[in-house]
Amino acid sequence: MKHLLKMADLSAQEIIEILNLADQLKYETHHGIPHPVLQGKTLGMIFEKASTRTRVSFEVGMYQLGGNALFLSARDLQIGRGEPASDTARVLSRYLDGIMIRTFAQEEVETLAEYGSIPIINGLTDYCHPCQVLADLMTIREVKSGLEGLKLCYIGDGNNMANSLIVGALKVGMKVSAATPATDKPHADVMAFAQQFKDFSWTDSVPDAAEGADVLITDVWASMGQESEAAERAARFEGFQINRQLMEKAAKDCMVLHCLPAHLGEEITKEVFDAHAGEIFEEAENRLHAQKAVLVRLLGGKTTVR
Ligand code: CP
Ligand code: NVA
Repeated sequence: MKHLLKMADLSAQEIIEILNLADQLKYETHHGIPHPVLQGKTLGMIFEKASTRTRVSFEVGMYQLGGNALFLSARDLQIGRGEPASDTARVLSRYLDGIMIRTFAQEEVETLAEYGSIPIINGLTDYCHPCQVLADLMTIREVKSGLEGLKLCYIGDGNNMANSLIVGALKVGMKVSAATPATDKPHADVMAFAQQFKDFSWTDSVPDAAEGADVLITDVWASMGQESEAAERAARFEGFQINRQLMEKAAKDCMVLHCLPAHLGEEITKEVFDAHAGEIFEEAENRLHAQKAVLVRLLGGKTTVR
């Protein structure tokens, strides 16, 4: 594993190894056991979109691992004025030990990996959000004591979250159903990958997808960069909501996850969100632990802390 560009690049074994290390790092963090295994290392964090969780969890994660993190807003970097990603990658590779980037085009992340000589981590693109899905799988495994054979159901926009969840969950042996409008299906590459699995289904019927689900997941109807389309998207996604009625279709002890930020009353009701807040905020915390595991794997060249 040289980079984390998308879930498709990880084998099932690599995903499980990251989750195991994340569990260990979480235990050590909660018990005050230091793990400064990235001393002297610096992570550059390029942001071309807003962030609360990704920015803070990567920055704190690097500090807890004994290293440093630099917040690099695209508004201040020359990349924001048109300097090519290929040159940015070759320059930053001479100062930094790794780059985390949040941007629009997946191609930009792939270009950094192609031209740079240090690990590149995708902190969200329009195409995917692998760091979030590692935290989601970690949270499901924590609550359900396993992953294989459980049914994960995604409701809503076939966006970056849908793309990474479908690939990641199928890789670790989960059953996956996705309900999106026919106009907003997951990416064609993801659909092609998923259709190789007998335990994958796509539908535009929300109740059909949720039938017997062990985990229900949704995301906003308008992602970052789609703000001007919010009203027309809200009309298109009406009914693609996790609410009390839908919970009745799912398994009795069904979990609910949301990557956040959430728009209550749109993709999820306040009632369901509040009832599952424990899981949703554990999921947010697990961003820290899962990403620390990724950082140790990519920047430390180790699979275990000790
Ligand atoms: N879930 C997530 O990536 O949150 P931020 O946009 O706050 O980083
Ligand atoms: N789909 C959302 C996820 C935010 C973490 C977005 O891209 O804005």
